[in-house]
Amino acid sequence: MQPVLTLLATLLLLPLVLLGQPQLVRNLSNSMNESGTCHCTVHLPNSSVLLQQLEQLQSMAKELIGEYEQQLLWASKYARAIEEQENQALEISQTQEIRNPNTITSLYETPAFNLLLLELEGAQALTAELKTKAGASRTADLLHQLQEQVTNASLSLKLLADSDQRSFRALQQEVDVLQGRLNECEREKEQEQASRHPGPPLPPGSCAHGGLQKVSRPLVLQLNWRGISHKAGAWGRDSAPSPDSPLYWVAPLRADGRYFDYYRLHKSYDDLVMLKNYEQWKMGYGDGSGNTVYKNFMYFNYYGTSDIAKVDLSSNTLVLQRPLPGATYNNRFSYASVPWKDLDFAGDEKGLWVLYATEESKGNLVVSRLNASTLEVEESWRTSQYKPALSGAFMACGVLYALRSLSTRQEEIFYAFDTTNGQERHLSILLDKMLETLHGINYSPSDHRLYVYNDGYLMYYDLTFLTLKPTLSRPAAKRPSGDRAPPRVVKSNRLQ
Ligand SMILES: *[C@@H]1O[C@H](CO)[C@@H](O)[C@H](O)[C@H]1NC(C)=O
Ligand SMILES: *[C@@H]1O[C@H](CO)[C@@H](O)[C@H](O)[C@H]1NC(C)=O
Ligand SMILES: *[C@@H]1O[C@H](CO)[C@@H](O)[C@H](O)[C@H]1NC(C)=O
Ligand SMILES: *[C@@H]1O[C@H](CO)[C@@H](O)[C@H](O)[C@H]1NC(C)=O
Ligand SMILES: *[C@@H]1O[C@H](CO)[C@@H](O)[C@H](O)[C@H]1NC(C)=O
Repeated sequence: MQPVLTLLATLLLLPLVLLGQPQLVRNLSNSMNESGTCHCTVHLPNSSVLLQQLEQLQSMAKELIGEYEQQLLWASKYARAIEEQENQALEISQTQEIRNPNTITSLYETPAFNLLLLELEGAQALTAELKTKAGASRTADLLHQLQEQVTNASLSLKLLADSDQRSFRALQQEVDVLQGRLNECEREKEQEQASRHPGPPLPPGSCAHGGLQKVSRPLVLQLNWRGISHKAGAWGRDSAPSPDSPLYWVAPLRADGRYFDYYRLHKSYDDLVMLKNYEQWKMGYGDGSGNTVYKNFMYFNYYGTSDIAKVDLSSNTLVLQRPLPGATYNNRFSYASVPWKDLDFAGDEKGLWVLYATEESKGNLVVSRLNASTLEVEESWRTSQYKPALSGAFMACGVLYALRSLSTRQEEIFYAFDTTNGQERHLSILLDKMLETLHGINYSPSDHRLYVYNDGYLMYYDLTFLTLKPTLSRPAAKRPSGDRAPPRVVKSNRLQ
């Protein structure tokens, strides 16, 4: 039992030992009172990280003491019988340590620290010994726990020494990561609470919400009217924010996945489902599946150019064609696994948008708001996302949402760029999909749905937005470092 007791005492002293390191201590003064007791005053460095570590270790030591006292009761009946063997075990472990001194690896030259390590190892050996003796009983369980705690304490100690060696910066980063996760967690909790107490349903075309919250499971409507070989295409509703624009459009590309030639219009959802009462038009000059319909006009990339084309749907006439300045085309920077979608049009509550990339943006996604009458660019924003790394994007209430593929069955909306303040953030909203590739992705403000063309199938998702709370503006959550880039605030990143 001796080594364990010493261990506990030393654990409590540990903070002082560690603080004995010169770079950690700002001031330290000793004095001895008359009865020979040594008093030590330590001025701790102003580092919350270290203090947290120390507090953790101290509470661990306290726990250990409590646990140990409990163990003592259980173990006392075995103690007598095994005392001799225990001493033997201790001797063995100590001789081993003497024979093999580099197990301590001299991270700390402080004798007390080394002693502590020695004693932790001794305690480990001892508890293992006790455990074998105790057999399968409640004592064995408790001893097992104790052993684990001793191992943990030993690990923490080594870790603490290591991380000190590696400097505080690394530790700080780890704490930041945890902090980020905590923030994320809180945010999720908030969102969950918000969904448990949903506000009134969002009126069509309304932006009175706090951004996208979640996406429903997909509802698969039907295979496109041209058949399974037409894997690429797009479909949707007129994205003008008007509840009384029941126009649905379906535009499967040619089987080559590039050439946009035919489309159909249905005047109601029922007609669409029944495949009846449609108008079918031949277009013959579109490129890719980035087209969209806004206020009864279809906008798309004119084949083989950087031009925007605008077609009046009531007569299928090309009313305007105009180059999009700087836009790359001919599959230069399309989306991942969706080729030829150089110009991706989007309509939402705030207007008509085009998502594309330029040489100057180095392939990063550029968002431009268009004047729907003249097709002139009114304003542009450059995002931090490389367009060919995304699987698609859409606009809702002036916010760009970008997707990436997680697997053949799941997509993630992982990035948002708000054009009202130029801020970007990372998020994680998962979308199930039936087949692998989402081609056309079009948002409709009228019903807050996302219309997706999934390898030939028409499907949609219901979008849920966060209800606005009177007080908003919590600090942006710090994100863990890793495959996701930390959010950067991009201000005044506007292009000409
Ligand atoms: C340490 O702190 C004491 C009391 O604040 C002070 O008198 C002493 O000069 C300090 N020593 C050093 C080395 O800073
Ligand atoms: C010296 O310090 C110890 C521990 O704080 C205390 O118990 C003892 O009474 C002190 N002796 C004197 C003479 O102050
Ligand atoms: C200690 O650090 C905290 C946060 O880093 C800071 O707010 C505080 O003013 C510092 N205190 C001293 C005495 O330097
Ligand atoms: C020891 O650490 C592991 C991993 O951190 C943990 O799961 C376990 O609960 C700890 N054991 C005790 C007794 O604290
Ligand atoms: C589009 O441009 C025209 C001509 O410059 C202008 O009269 C009109 O107000 C603009 N439309 C919008 C929605 O800004």
